Amino acid sequence: MSDELKVTGSSKRERYESLYPQLQALLLGEDDLIANMANVAAALKEGFGFFWVGFYRVSGDQLVLGPFQGPVACNRIAYGKGVCGTAWKEGRVVVVPDVDQFPGHIACSSLSRSEIVVPVWSGNRVIAVLDVDSDQLDAFDETDARYLNKVCDLLDGKKRTTV
Ligand code: SME
Repeated sequence: MSDELKVTGSSKRERYESLYPQLQALLLGEDDLIANMANVAAALKEGFGFFWVGFYRVSGDQLVLGPFQGPVACNRIAYGKGVCGTAWKEGRVVVVPDVDQFPGHIACSSLSRSEIVVPVWSGNRVIAVLDVDSDQLDAFDETDARYLNKVCDLLDGKKRTTV
């Protein structure tokens, strides 16, 4: 495995397109979920310079902090609470252009201004969420939703295809 990722392109779409096959290759050889989450968080942080990238894993009726890159964050989030708990409960991607406008947003850092949360599925069950925060307003859109969904699908061994 190369120890370096190369993320190229000027548009967001091009950057995701260049990162995705590298992530696919990286995750293909490993079936440990935590190791794969750790590398996904590192790759997204390094490739895009997001303020915070990380996973919260489902544990009973809570989400518990998992592998992440960025400032320290809240350990636990209840079902249905905050952006993460909402994405888990509703089983959908939640894009928040301005965190101050999202009722119940949980502020782990006052520097976070916008956010996207993507459920991680195993079969028909949400087992975790991927949370990405930006220190800029309105940083996330449909392109992020589409590619981050694809990236989260790589964490489900059954969906991983060979490259
Ligand atoms: N803002 C999230 C909490 C997690 S941190 O942003 C890392 C939420 O409202 O669920």
